[in-house]
Amino acid sequence: MLASKPLQMLLFGILGAISALAAPTKPVVNLGYAQYQGFPTAQGNIDFLGIRYAAPPTAVDGIQLADKQPNICPQAWFGLSPSSPWRTSANKTTSSSLAKRGFEVPPPSEDCFAPGGVYDADEIVKLSNDNAIVVLIQYRLGLHGFLAGKEVKKDGALNAGLLDQQFALQWVQKHISKFGGDPGRVTIWGQSAGGGAVLQHLIANGGQTKPALFQNAILSSAYAAPQYRYDERIPEAVFSEVVTRTSCASARNKLQCLRNVDSKVLSEVQAAVASIGFYGTFVFGPVVDGTVIQDAPLRALHQKKINKANVLTVTNSDEGSLFTNSDLVLDSEDYIAQLFPTFPNGQLKSAAAHYTGLGSKTEQATLIMGECKGAFGFWSHVRLTYHLTALYVCPTYTLLRSLGNRGYKGHFAVPPATHGADVAYYFPSSLEGGPPFKDPQFIATFAGALLDFAVTQSPNAARQGSLLPAWPRWSEANRKEMVFNRTDDSPAISIVDSLPALQERCRYWDTVAQFTGQ
Ligand SMILES: *[C@@H]1O[C@H](CO)[C@@H](O)[C@H](O)[C@H]1NC(C)=O
Ligand SMILES: *[C@@H]1O[C@H](CO)[C@@H](O)[C@H](O)[C@H]1NC(C)=O
Repeated sequence: MLASKPLQMLLFGILGAISALAAPTKPVVNLGYAQYQGFPTAQGNIDFLGIRYAAPPTAVDGIQLADKQPNICPQAWFGLSPSSPWRTSANKTTSSSLAKRGFEVPPPSEDCFAPGGVYDADEIVKLSNDNAIVVLIQYRLGLHGFLAGKEVKKDGALNAGLLDQQFALQWVQKHISKFGGDPGRVTIWGQSAGGGAVLQHLIANGGQTKPALFQNAILSSAYAAPQYRYDERIPEAVFSEVVTRTSCASARNKLQCLRNVDSKVLSEVQAAVASIGFYGTFVFGPVVDGTVIQDAPLRALHQKKINKANVLTVTNSDEGSLFTNSDLVLDSEDYIAQLFPTFPNGQLKSAAAHYTGLGSKTEQATLIMGECKGAFGFWSHVRLTYHLTALYVCPTYTLLRSLGNRGYKGHFAVPPATHGADVAYYFPSSLEGGPPFKDPQFIATFAGALLDFAVTQSPNAARQGSLLPAWPRWSEANRKEMVFNRTDDSPAISIVDSLPALQERCRYWDTVAQFTGQ
């Protein structure tokens, strides 16, 4: 069930609208701190690869050739354990009650340093009719970007990965005009953890980021993990794991000690620590740092502390199966306890009760058809998949509700519609062989709607060749979403009502955000 490459959750794109570079095929742009020369792509766009946005390059004399993909930041795999190491008080969930029947843990991935670019924006720039400039940024991931705890606060930077992103957005404000872009028309986009990052920027600085860094935000399968205060038990426990495994535990200045650890060793420690998390969850992620991130996302949304932006969201039919292991059989209470290690024991039963209705024959049939690939572990699979709606799907509705009627909701349903399956429709090279459904009208409609939103602030730009019905905004009074699906041989794109039962479960998760930590 593991995705072969979770890389697509890493990069975070920025679409800066407008006007292509008219001009020389190998233009040189002077950023003040360095000069970069771009080069033409096969599609006739101009690429600038590997531009440094923080420290200038060391050799600043002359012109830097921006023709090579930089290395990719080391990343962490998701947790592989049958239980959460951070759940201490759960009497229900002892290892003996876990049926580990045939539960196989894949070895931690060694190939985290995949070279080359993950996303190639040539296609979307073409689809934008040269009305968009795409900026793909790299930021520190895993341990390098999200190690937290008191010592990091004292001597380093909490949420370093988010600060990198913010810095890159400031870079766009300062420099995008030199590439022909308009800093007043910036769209941020991210998928999975990247979508979660967009959520972080929406609530950053208590919703008062000044000056504004973007006008539009697109969230694809946004991930809202439990987000603790930096000095709470779990972030501190992760910090302890890391310093223990790097022999920095007894150092006087542990963070300084970590900075001196060989990067290869640090990456191995990162992989090892990441793997102790509960299966399918991420050990390293944003924390509440008290300054840039003042509250966990759902709480900030409830208080409407949101930076003003137009918002478009997309979730997929099956967000969960890539992150669950059907060999791991847990009942709903146990699963919730592991997924949310701070969820009180006394609340587990009522949480699980929201899922008993899923046993109806109709729903089973729907799930079997839509999601279940094998009979083995069917029930656990169904349940796990549905619980994961708590991490991916429901936070999107929380966001939409908190926006009043400023957001759009899309539902990507082209089978298999698993987490990330939508991305290949606008970044075709992210998937070997490109998107499975190669219908040009479908691509023009789906990718075109996202692009039109970025360029015109509305997905309804009446793009040539698009099949999009007028896409209404989502509001509590008018819960409409655009389903992007296919029949055997043609696109099937229509407006449907958000599923009432799912809305109900999502509302429940909203009321217990203080327990989940989201
Ligand atoms: C765990 O079990 C012990 C003994 O049975 C009990 O005293 C305690 O309250 C339980 N803890 C929780 C958090 O349920
Ligand atoms: C999408 O189409 C597939 C195949 O026709 C169907 O099984 C599925 O239920 C559809 N999904 C939605 C959300 O309409």
